[in-house]
Amino acid sequence: MDAEEILRFADNLVFDKTGKRLDDLQRAVVRGAWQRKTYPQIAKESYSTPRNIRNVASKLWQLFSQVLEENITKSNFCSAMERYQISKISNSGHFNLVQKGNINVCTETLHHPKTSKNSPPTQTSNEDDTQQKPRLDLRDAPDISSFYDRKSELATLQQWIVQDRTRLVAILGLSGIGKTNLALNLLPQIQHQFEYVIWRSLGTSPTLFNTLKSLLKFLSNLPEIELPASTDELLSLLIDKLRSHRCLIILDDVQTILSSGQIAGHYKPGYENYGTLFNLIGKLPHNSCLILNSWEAPLDILTFTADRSEVRFLQLNGLSEVAASAILKDSSLLDEEKWPTLINFYGSNPLYLKLTAQTIKNLFGGKVAQYLSYEPAFLSDELMPILQQHYQRLSQIEKQAIAQISNEIEPVSFTELIAKCQASPAESFTAIQSLERRGTIEKLCCEAETFFTMPPVLKEYVKIVAG
Ligand SMILES: Nc1ncnc2c1ncn2[C@@H]1O[C@H](COP(=O)(O)OP(=O)(O)OP(=O)(O)O)[C@@H](O)[C@H]1O
Ligand SMILES: [Mg+2]
Repeated sequence: MDAEEILRFADNLVFDKTGKRLDDLQRAVVRGAWQRKTYPQIAKESYSTPRNIRNVASKLWQLFSQVLEENITKSNFCSAMERYQISKISNSGHFNLVQKGNINVCTETLHHPKTSKNSPPTQTSNEDDTQQKPRLDLRDAPDISSFYDRKSELATLQQWIVQDRTRLVAILGLSGIGKTNLALNLLPQIQHQFEYVIWRSLGTSPTLFNTLKSLLKFLSNLPEIELPASTDELLSLLIDKLRSHRCLIILDDVQTILSSGQIAGHYKPGYENYGTLFNLIGKLPHNSCLILNSWEAPLDILTFTADRSEVRFLQLNGLSEVAASAILKDSSLLDEEKWPTLINFYGSNPLYLKLTAQTIKNLFGGKVAQYLSYEPAFLSDELMPILQQHYQRLSQIEKQAIAQISNEIEPVSFTELIAKCQASPAESFTAIQSLERRGTIEKLCCEAETFFTMPPVLKEYVKIVAG
C-alpha cells in the first residue's frame, strides 16, 4: 500500500465522519506519518513550522481515534491502518464492509468481480454480525477479457470520481472502442470507495420506470411490491438513496435509448424522462456517482459546462499502437511490419481489430500483407452490421457531411465542408458538431482553419453505402 492509497482511505474516513475533506496540511501529516517522517521533516516539506504541524497532527489523531474507536497517535497510526488490512483492497476485486461506528471500513479483497456476479448482493455474514457481504450487483456486467493500455484514462476517471467527487461521468466513443472494458477495469480501483456498486445495461431499452425499480430493489433492499408505483416517486427515492449512501451506478449501452435519424443525443420517444434522471444526478448534491457508457452523450448532460466538476465526459479514442499490436499478436497474425497500416486503417479500435484479425486468420492464414493488398479493403460480414448501425443513426445532413469527408484523402476544411453540405450554414454547423460528438469524425485544429477527417475504415464503409 502506498502513501496515495492511504491518503485516499484516510480522506474517506474523515469525510464520512465530518463531511469535510482533508486539507493540504492534514494530507501532509498523513502522508508523512505513513512514510515514518518526523514532524520537523513534514513541516519542512510542507513549508510550515514544526509547531503548526504538531497542532494539525494532534487534532487529526483525535479525529481518527473517534473514527476508529481506539487511541490513535503518530506512532501507532500505521499499524492501526494495517490492521484494517487495507493493503489488500488497493489491488482489489471485491471487498467486505465492516461497520465501525457510522463508517464503513473496507477490509478484505475477495476475488475478481466475475466470480461473485451471481452472489446475492446484500446479506450478513454468519461469521460476525458486523460483517456484510460485498454490496455489489454486477450480474449485468460482461466478462473481463484482455486489457491493454488505458492507464491515463483510468487515472483520469479515478481522479474525477474519487478525488473530485464528480457525480456523473460519461464514457463516450464508437462501438468496440472499449468503454465497457474500461469501466470494468476501473471498478477494482474505485469500488472500495462506495457502499453500493451496481451495473445495469440499457441494451434491451428498459423504460426509466423499470430501470429505477431494478436499481432500487438492490439499493433499498426492498421487494418490488413495496416500491412506489410511480416513476416520480421512484426517482425521488433513488435520489434519497444517492444522498444517504455512497453508491456507484454504471449504466452501460445508453445509446440504445437515444434516437436515430436526428442529431446526436436525442431520446427515443418514450425515453425522454431519462433526461430528468441524468439532470437530477448532475445538479443535486449527493454522495454518489453515475457512470454512463454510450456512443453519444444524451443532450441534457451536454448543458453542463466544462468548468463544472459535477458532470464530466471522457471521449474514448483508439488504443496506442503498442496496445493495438498486442491484440494482433494475441491473434497470432503475421507480417508485423504491416501492422501499423492495419491499425491505422481501423482507427486502433480494439473490436474492429479483433474481428478483422479473425478474418485475416481464416481467409489469409494470418498474412496481413495479403489482406492489405486488396483494394478497396475487404470489410468482414461481422464488421459491416456494426458500421451500419452507426451510419443509420445519422441525420441526412450528417450523412452528406461524412460523404464529403470520405471522398477526400486529405482532411477537409470547415469552410469547404460547409460549402459542400446542401443545407443552411446553421444546419451544417449542427450536423458537424453532432458528428464530432458521436466520435465519427476527428477534428484537427490548425492556426488558420479547422479540418475534419475520419478513420479510413469509416470512409471505406461510407463509400460503399453512399455509392
Ligand atoms: N484496452 C483494451 N485492450 C484489449 N482489448 C480491448 C480493450 N478495450 C476493449 N477491448 C476489446 O474490444 C472489444 C470491445 O470492447 P468493449 O465491449 O469494451 O467496447 P465498447 O466501447 O463497450 O463497445 P459497445 O459500444 O459496442 O458496447 C472487446 O472484445 C474487448 O475485450
Ligand atoms: Mg459496451
